[in-house]
Amino acid sequence: MLPGGAWRGRGAEPPAVDGDCPCAATLDEAATDSTHRSAKTDTVLTKGPFSLGPSLDRKVAGWYGQSSAVERRDSGRSQDTRVLRLLVSGSGRGGEEPMSHLFAPLTLRSVTLANRIVVSPMCQYSSQDGFVNDWHLVHLGSRAVGGPGLILMEATAVTAEGRITLQDVGIYRDDHVPGLARLVSFMHGQGVRAGIQLAHAGRKASTGRPWETMSAIPAADGGWQPIAPTVRPFKDDYAWPRAMTTGDIADVVEAFGRAATRALSAEFDVVELHAAHGYLIHQFLSPLVNDRTDRYGGSFENRVRFGLEVVDAVRAVWPERLPLFVRVSATDWAPGGWDIEESIVFARLLRERGVDLIDCSTGGAVPGVRIPLGPGYQLPFAERIRREAGVATGAVGLITTPEQADAIVRGGQADCILMAREFLRDPYFPLHAAEALGQTVTWPPQYLRAAPPGSESR
Ligand SMILES: Cc1cc2nc3c(=O)[nH]c(=O)nc-3n(C[C@H](O)[C@H](O)[C@H](O)COP(=O)(O)O)c2cc1C
Repeated sequence: MLPGGAWRGRGAEPPAVDGDCPCAATLDEAATDSTHRSAKTDTVLTKGPFSLGPSLDRKVAGWYGQSSAVERRDSGRSQDTRVLRLLVSGSGRGGEEPMSHLFAPLTLRSVTLANRIVVSPMCQYSSQDGFVNDWHLVHLGSRAVGGPGLILMEATAVTAEGRITLQDVGIYRDDHVPGLARLVSFMHGQGVRAGIQLAHAGRKASTGRPWETMSAIPAADGGWQPIAPTVRPFKDDYAWPRAMTTGDIADVVEAFGRAATRALSAEFDVVELHAAHGYLIHQFLSPLVNDRTDRYGGSFENRVRFGLEVVDAVRAVWPERLPLFVRVSATDWAPGGWDIEESIVFARLLRERGVDLIDCSTGGAVPGVRIPLGPGYQLPFAERIRREAGVATGAVGLITTPEQADAIVRGGQADCILMAREFLRDPYFPLHAAEALGQTVTWPPQYLRAAPPGSESR
C-alpha cells in the first residue's frame, strides 16, 4: 500500500503520501541505542502484562503439553520442539551474554513465538481472484527461512468488494483455503508461527496497484463501487462509496467470522484484524470519516460498535487457545480525529473481548496529514497502550536494526517488533540480528554451512 512503488533503499525512502499507508519515510537508520548490550538482567519480561518466568525448562515443558494446530498436524516431532531448539540455541554464545530479549520467546494463549520478531503484513497485489500463488510461497517462504517468531500475511480480504485492488489476496471463498494452507505448512516447517490479517478496505477499495495507479479503477477494468460508513470518497480520484445499510454492516461482520473459520481450516496460529490505515473498521472509528447519525456513528460508543461486533464475530469462531491481534491506527494525526486517548479506551474494550495484542500503527484515515517520521516514531503509542490498557502490544514503523528492536523489547515498550520494509531488504533479518546481538539460533540444515560457527540445524 505504499504509494510511489519502487524503493530506493535505506535512508532514501519516499515520503508518506496523503496519509494513505503510513509506511514510507526518510530516516536516519544509524540512530539506535546500543547501551542495552551491557544489560545483565531479564527484569523487563516481568514488567508488562506477560510474565515469561525464569525457568526455560519449565516453560518448554508447558508448551509441549499444549495442543496447537501445528502440533496436531505434526505429531511425530512437535513444532514446539523446533521452537525449543531455536530458543535453547538462543541462550547466548559461550554462556557469557544474557539472552537477548529480542530472542526471548513470547507465549500468547497456547501459541509460543520463538522470538519477538514479526514480519509485518505486506500486500503483494499479486493474486488473481484472491488466490495465493508461487509468488506468495516464495515471498513468505524466504522470510520464514529467516526465522522470525511470526509472519503475518498481508491484508486478506473477507469479501471480494473489500479488496483494495483486484490483485489482493482473499479469504472469501472456501477454495481459497488450500493455497493458504500450503503457505502455513511451509512456515510451520521452519518453526515459524503463521498469522493472517483479515481486512476490508471500505472506501479505499477498487483502486489500482501502487506501482500502476493509486486511483479508482474504472468498471471496464474490473472496478466496483465500494461500501463505507459515509458516502465521501477518500480522495477525489478514489471511487465514490455507497453508505452501508445496517444490513450491509451485519453482512460484513458475518464475513469476518466466516473468514476466521477459513483461517482456522488453513491452520493459521494467529488472526489479526485490520482496524488501521483508513480501511473499513478505521473508517467507522474515525470521526473525520464517520458522519453517520445511526447507532454506528457519532459518539465514541457508536463509532467503536462495528469494530467490536467484528471482534465478537471472530472470537466466537476463533478458538480460545489461539491469539487474536488487532492492528489500530493509534492516531489520525489530524485535529478532531481518532487519537491515542480513544485508542487506549478502545484497546481496553478489545482486551475485555479476548484480543491478545494490539499492533500499534498510525494514520491513513484522511489524506494530507503530516506524520513526524523518524526511527520508531510510532513506538510511544505502543508503549502507552501497553501500559494504560494493560494489553500486549506490537511496535511497528521504522524499526530497522537489531539493536533498536532489542532495546524496545528490553525496555518494556512493546512485547514484539513488527518490521516490514527491512524484511523486504533482508529476508534473513532474524539470522543476521542474532549474530549482531551475540545469539545463536538454528539455521535450516540446507544453509548450515554458511551459518556462524556453533549454529545448530533446525
Ligand atoms: C509493500 C508493503 C505493503 C504493506 N501492506 C500492508 C498490509 O497489507 N497491511 C498493513 O496493515 N500494513 C501494510 N503495510 C504497512 C507495514 O505493515 C508497516 O506497518 C509499515 O511499512 C511500517 O513499517 P516499516 O517501517 O518496518 O516498513 C505495508 C507496507 C509495505 C512496505
